[in-house]
Amino acid sequence: MTLVLLKLIAPQLITHGSVTIVHIEVVAGEAVYLPCDISTQTSNDQVALVLWYREDLGTPIYSVDGRDRDFNLAERWSDENVFSNRAYFMPEKQPAELGVDHIRETDQGVYRCRVDFRIGQTRNSKVNLTVIGEY
Ligand SMILES: *[C@@H]1O[C@H](CO)[C@@H](O)[C@H](O)[C@H]1NC(C)=O
Repeated sequence: MTLVLLKLIAPQLITHGSVTIVHIEVVAGEAVYLPCDISTQTSNDQVALVLWYREDLGTPIYSVDGRDRDFNLAERWSDENVFSNRAYFMPEKQPAELGVDHIRETDQGVYRCRVDFRIGQTRNSKVNLTVIGEY
């Protein structure tokens, strides 16, 4: 019953061990919103660094770096060869999201979001993005 309900609600949530994978489908040319839970476990904690990876590349492709400042003033960087200026992080969403405009078929893949906190343990979550060709 629960599984059936989950299937009706896109994105579909599956947990493998401790890493959650969300499956999202998007039509090429549209925008997509990749979720990343940056919520803290305790009220005195704060996010220090958010890193997005594309699993086949192995290097970060987008970062929000608040290690030396308040997270609200964190420095943002986007790999020019991946999302470049198409991506924008929205920390105020629940959960936080990486918005990516004008999705291309080459954007299809598995993405991982890594959140480092000042106090709490690092949290990883994944998004499996499927890009459907334009009609
Ligand atoms: C991602 O989705 C593709 C296509 O649906 C599937 O073949 C692949 O196994 C998925 N990968 C993961 C890590 O879930």
